[in-house]
Order: sequence, then C-alpha cells, then structure tokens
Amino acid sequence: MEAEETLAVPIEEIQLFIETVKGCSEYNFSDYSVKSLSRRLEKVLIDNKTTMANLVTKIRNNKDFLEKTVRDITVNTTELFRDPKAWHAIKYGILPQFKDYNTVNIWHAGCSTGQEVYSMLILLYEMDFFHKANVFASDINIQVLEEAKKGVYKYRFNIEYLDNFDKVIKENPYNPDEHTDVPYSKYFDINKVNDIIKMKQFLVAKPVFKKHDLVKPENVFYTKFDLIVCRNVLIYFNFDLQNRIFDFFHDNLFDSGFLLLGMHESMLGPITAKYDKRGLIYRKK
Ligand SMILES: C[S@@+](CC[C@H](N)C(=O)[O-])C[C@H]1O[C@@H](n2cnc3c(N)ncnc32)[C@H](O)[C@@H]1O
Repeated sequence: MEAEETLAVPIEEIQLFIETVKGCSEYNFSDYSVKSLSRRLEKVLIDNKTTMANLVTKIRNNKDFLEKTVRDITVNTTELFRDPKAWHAIKYGILPQFKDYNTVNIWHAGCSTGQEVYSMLILLYEMDFFHKANVFASDINIQVLEEAKKGVYKYRFNIEYLDNFDKVIKENPYNPDEHTDVPYSKYFDINKVNDIIKMKQFLVAKPVFKKHDLVKPENVFYTKFDLIVCRNVLIYFNFDLQNRIFDFFHDNLFDSGFLLLGMHESMLGPITAKYDKRGLIYRKK
C-alpha cells in the first residue's frame, strides 16, 4: 500500500472494506490506489448515510448491495473522442501502421459506457480499416457494459462530443487548412427533444463486449492484439498492479503491437525496457 497520509477514510477502514469484499466475492481491491479508494469510499458512506462497520455487514449479507458498492467505487467518466490529442496519436501514429495488415485486433480495456469504443469505430471507418478490424472491449462493471452495448447517450450532458468529433474527424492538427466534411448523421442520430445521441446500428453491431477484471491476468478474448487501449483506468491502481498489467498487456500484444494509456498515465521502472515509447504511444519490443 502507498505511504500513509491524510485520507478521507482511515486506512484501517479501507483495509476492512478490502478484506470483506475479498472474503465474499471475486473482487480484489488490495492493489487499488489507497488515495482514490478512500475518496470513493467516503462518497459511498455519505450516500448510504452509514458507517464502515455497517457497510461491510451489508456487503457480506447482500450480494446486490456488494455489486452496487463495487460499481460506486469505480469511476466511469468517459466521453466521445476524449482527449483529442490522444486520438490524433491513434489517427496519425498508430492506425497508418496497420495499412498492410489483413486483420487488426483492438482491445479497449476499461471501456466504461463505450464512448471510447464508438470513437475508435468511427475513426476506423473514416480511415477504411473498419472492415478488417476486430474490436473487443471490457470492463469490470457489467452495468456500464450494458450501456456500452446500446450505444445511446445523453445529448445535452455530452454536447462537447461534437467539438471533439470535429477536432479528430474533420480537422487536421498538422494542417489547419485541411477540413473533411463528415456529417454527424453518418455515425449517430441526435434527437434534441429526447436529449439522445444514438450510435448507428452498423457501429453498435461491431464490437464484442465482455466483463473482465484487470486484476486477474486472464485473456477473455482468446486472441492477441495489435492495439490495446487502456486509458484512465490504471491511474486508480498502485504501482505493483500497474506493472503486472503492463506485463500482461505485453504478453497479449502481437510483436510490435501498440499500447495507448491515458494522458496522465505512464510506465516507470524496469517494465519500460519491454516497450518503445514515442510521444503518447508505447510499442512492444
Ligand atoms: C474513468 S473510466 C475510463 C473509460 C475510458 N477508458 C476513458 O478513458 O474514457 C475507468 C473504467 O475502468 C473500469 N475499471 C476499474 N477497475 C477495473 C478493473 N479492475 N478491471 C477492468 N476495468 C476496471 C471502471 O469500471 C471504469 O469503467
């Protein structure tokens, strides 16, 4: 565990929570970042108007409550074309390398409600890789996966999606004069009255979504990958778990396969010897 510091929930209570969950379920939060766990647990305690002692009792006795609590302590924030700079790295630095491949296998690990997956599918379509791509996506939280499978999102709440779309799909950051006119309706329908953005069926039908817990080093898709996208997930884990996952990704990438992390995530220590890094992009050595 990380060095002790002022935490929103005392370390003993966090440990009690971790041990309780480990004892009565398949989940293991031992290697999650204590700081982030403490913030999430504080919110859970406030929302449930309860104490840790009562929370763990309820977790032990009520499977549904356990699942709900697990959902509540994982952060599911995501967007369409989140961090356009990362998508520029994919568009100009990674996908062109697959030009001569017959198939391209892409895994979104920790995909949340799926906006990242639909962003990838749209980009693949624009770049003419859609037909040869196999897109896999996973998350520990089955509720977000159910939403991801539907591809229906709130419109007003996510209005900046269109701006991100324009930056990645219509504009070229390396050439301000370039502008590709791609109508939104090619990829999703916007219903302002009902406040909905709905991904087109040909996108919704493409990805394979599965539950997967990154704490467990198992490959639930039984294939290797040309690109693994794991953004804004490892930030919630401690250094040891991050490194085990980087090793696991390395084993499950094809030779010279790519790994893309979140804008504020990076590799440190001996594991870096297994990857080449260029800008935001990691490549298996
Ligand atoms: C902040 S979201 C990131 C979503 C998306 N990758 C993005 O960058 O927009 C983090 C996701 O990681 C998932 N997650 C947390 N712990 C996980 C684990 N052990 N295994 C797989 N997914 C996990 C959460 O359920 C959540 O949906």
